[in-house]
Amino acid sequence: MIFDFVDGSAGEEYACRLNIDTIEALRLLPRVMVNVQRRNLETTLFDQSWALPFGIAPMGMCDLTWPGADAMLARAAKQYNIPLVLSTMASSSIETTAERAGEYAWFQLYVGESEETAYELIDRAETVGYTHLVLTVDVPEISVRPREQRDGFQSPLRIGPRQFFDFATHPLWSLQVLQSGIPRLANVNLPGGPEFKRNEARGLVDWDFLDRLRQRWPGQLIVKGVLGCNDAVRIRDAGADAVYVSNHGGRQLDSVPAAIDRLPLIRQAVGAEYPLLFDSGVRCGEGVLKALALGADFVFIGRPFLYAIGAGGYDGLREMIELFKSGISINLAQLGCPDINDLDASYVLNAGVSPGAAR
Ligand SMILES: Cc1cc2nc3c(=O)[nH]c(=O)nc-3n(C[C@H](O)[C@H](O)[C@H](O)COP(=O)(O)O)c2cc1C
Repeated sequence: MIFDFVDGSAGEEYACRLNIDTIEALRLLPRVMVNVQRRNLETTLFDQSWALPFGIAPMGMCDLTWPGADAMLARAAKQYNIPLVLSTMASSSIETTAERAGEYAWFQLYVGESEETAYELIDRAETVGYTHLVLTVDVPEISVRPREQRDGFQSPLRIGPRQFFDFATHPLWSLQVLQSGIPRLANVNLPGGPEFKRNEARGLVDWDFLDRLRQRWPGQLIVKGVLGCNDAVRIRDAGADAVYVSNHGGRQLDSVPAAIDRLPLIRQAVGAEYPLLFDSGVRCGEGVLKALALGADFVFIGRPFLYAIGAGGYDGLREMIELFKSGISINLAQLGCPDINDLDASYVLNAGVSPGAAR
């Protein structure tokens, strides 16, 4: 059930496969006889230097994959100098994560049925020193994820006969979870605190809300879940500091285009200098390179980090980050591009031109 929660997507799961397939199908053209003995993976985003060009995408209830998963992600963010975006729906609190990851922790905001609840959350984040806020706008309603329905996945976990059988056949996980306590949402639904159900509609967010949020949040404001060029330009003009191109890893609308296909078009629309972040379907170092070449300034990775923790705990997570890192470095060499910041669309032979490009 927990694997299905992480791995699953909306509808027929077409968009999730499309993300991965489209990135894989992109062909890179190497340049030869470039001295690539020294390679630079460091990049700058929001006037800050990052050791690697990727970070950890916001994911709710990570501790379901393995007890302490959030703590492992925070530890890795600090160890590798990469950003960790803490979800509103995380199993660790805003405050605890600030303690664990310090300046590497960013906060991701969902707005439920109450705007006040949203402000309470960002006030808490600001109080403990968060400087980056990621507003997710591609969940106006919770989507239908058939695997979750089939498994009877709910938050908090409901343990009926089907789930009991599932847990009984995964005794190591079950014993660990029993010992550590069943993970719960740590930022919302606390006694006396803001109410937010996982299946609560989140359709309140509109352009006026973005204006109010911009007035209220003094730090970097990033808008996540954007696929349209016109939307991206309007977000930029509303004063947000970055657009985060993403289709939520195919977990929302199954008929969306591959997020990577939208990237060069959105880059063209917002101009060369405006910060663009990207996720959805990146599974290896070459995927990171392709996204950077097509206009992303920074790439986020979701599911692979949870697969790694589920399979191997912190060692698994470290190994996964190392795989991405070495994949990036080795393939920069194959490409004849010694500096990650010099990647551009001229390295990609067949960047997709999807219909509706101008929108
Ligand atoms: C288990 C899981 C939980 C997620 N929870 C959130 C969330 O709380 N907020 C959010 O903005 N995105 C959430 N996402 C989406 C990710 O931030 C990201 O957009 C997506 O996973 C990227 O695709 P990838 O998994 O193919 O890398 C979640 C994704 C997964 C797999």
